[in-house]
Amino acid sequence: MNNVKDTAFVVAEFRAEENEEAVPLYIDNVVKIWLNEETKTAADRIAQNSPAAKEMIKLRTKYFDDVLSNQVLAGCKQVVILGSGLDTRAARINGEKVKYFEIDDRATLQLKESTLKANKVPANVCYIPGDYVKDGLISLLKRSEFDFEIPTYFLWEGNTTLLAKTDVISVLEQIRDNLINFRLSFDYMSEKVISRTTGDRELNDYIDRYESTYAPWITGFENIATLAEELNLKPIENFSTAELHKQYRPRRVLESNIFNFYFVCTLENAE
Ligand SMILES: C[S@@+](CC[C@H](N)C(=O)[O-])C[C@H]1O[C@@H](n2cnc3c(N)ncnc32)[C@H](O)[C@@H]1O
Repeated sequence: MNNVKDTAFVVAEFRAEENEEAVPLYIDNVVKIWLNEETKTAADRIAQNSPAAKEMIKLRTKYFDDVLSNQVLAGCKQVVILGSGLDTRAARINGEKVKYFEIDDRATLQLKESTLKANKVPANVCYIPGDYVKDGLISLLKRSEFDFEIPTYFLWEGNTTLLAKTDVISVLEQIRDNLINFRLSFDYMSEKVISRTTGDRELNDYIDRYESTYAPWITGFENIATLAEELNLKPIENFSTAELHKQYRPRRVLESNIFNFYFVCTLENAE
């Protein structure tokens, strides 16, 4: 694993595994079209060094699936997925007339589009190739038929830890300044994990091992309510993945302390 874009294949492998559970948290019948021996070997290598990684992906998938489904049920017709990688929600959670906009690098999106087509998987998606940091999120959206006037749900999964903090904040500001009505969900690490100040030595070793096989984690946030307030955004939900685990898998023991430091949240525009 030497490339941020390759992380999408490992995430896809972990996400797919939940399908094998007796009572899965979600079903993803689409993701398998991108998986092969190579992606399995890469994912196995990471899972060996950091077994909790799989569960982190599965818990966040369930949370984001639920938030998105509720948005669609409430009538949201426009969804943007930043750094979409091999996200399959456009094919899985596709209420009537919901239009998806997916942003990622050109090669990933081309592979995605062609494989979905070859497998006859319908998805109402506008693919926007580009780098939402370098090119600017709003400039990229303006190149498409994105409607800035209607309520929009933004999903930003598996990205914030990999970006510079200023870039994360700039994306939030761009959404805030250009959309009238939106909700936004993303996952993030506690700042303590990034600065190795959790006080848990085992956890520090775990993170070092994880980063050596995956991609470096460079940004975390300590208090999402404070961040939201500073940016004039309204926090709707904020859960540690430890809390999600307790809710979704009440009979299972938490396998690592990392879940207490890895979060999902949903924000919206303040009135
Ligand atoms: C860890 S993967 C997550 C993929 C997907 N969101 C998921 O959770 O399954 C990160 C993805 O974000 C994309 N990405 C990261 N930074 C990006 C940027 N600045 N612009 C566009 N895509 C980006 C990468 O190419 C990669 O596909």
